[in-house]
Amino acid sequence: MKNQVGPPVTGNDFFGRKKELMQAWDLLDNGNHLLLPAPRRVGKTSFVLQLRKDAQKHDWKAIYFNVEDGSDETGFMRMFVDALKKEENWFKKSAKNTFDSIGKIMSSLEAEVEVQGVKTTLKWSNAAKSDLKRELEKLLEDTGKCLIIIDELPVLLSRLANIPEGKGRVGDFLHWLRSFRQNPDSEIRWIFCGSISMDTFAERLGITKTINDLYSFFTGCF
Ligand SMILES: Nc1ncnc2c1ncn2[C@@H]1O[C@H](COP(=O)(O)OP(=O)(O)OP(=O)(O)O)[C@@H](O)[C@H]1O
Ligand SMILES: [Mg+2]
Repeated sequence: MKNQVGPPVTGNDFFGRKKELMQAWDLLDNGNHLLLPAPRRVGKTSFVLQLRKDAQKHDWKAIYFNVEDGSDETGFMRMFVDALKKEENWFKKSAKNTFDSIGKIMSSLEAEVEVQGVKTTLKWSNAAKSDLKRELEKLLEDTGKCLIIIDELPVLLSRLANIPEGKGRVGDFLHWLRSFRQNPDSEIRWIFCGSISMDTFAERLGITKTINDLYSFFTGCF
């Protein structure tokens, strides 16, 4: 075992947390979505990477992606879709068409248009949002029990909140993510963690309603 300070630890370098891991699987099996609001550098990323590693043993699939380099909704989606594409053996052959449809919607969102002489990209419109949701749900139907682990979302959202009309977009985006969690038949569970706590962030923006369905796991010292 390396005594390593710095990046998240995996494999033999990861130790302890047995009780917390068992609790997390129990909560997930009981239908909860998790929020890890622990303070900085306590091992959140290492912990969720261990959950991903153990997923198969618990009869779950799992993807992990870190969105700290993203700056908006489309950036988030790119990273989500890339993470799903890496797991091509999870999906039926027909999923290729769904990935293609998602690709088309994404390209239309990223295409530059000129409005009054200024180059801009198209808005994350309601139509695009519902099309993407429909296509993503179609894809995720194939996976069965699946954890979607998202690291550092508040970093991306803080960036988005700082642009004109950004705060509203953050609220809309968190509502959109919440809408996936409202389907009682879904076998998808979402886990959020990061170096900025999502609950503090949402509270500051007055949008705690968008995340109040998440189970806050390990408050205090982890
Ligand atoms: N289970 C563990 N076993 C061994 N070392 C650990 C464990 N968890 C965390 N560490 C140590 O703590 C450091 C920080 O871990 P990690 O990056 O997972 O924390 P974090 O809470 O995600 O941090 P940040 O808030 O910066 O995102 C690691 O570099 C490692 O040295
Ligand atoms: Mg981390």
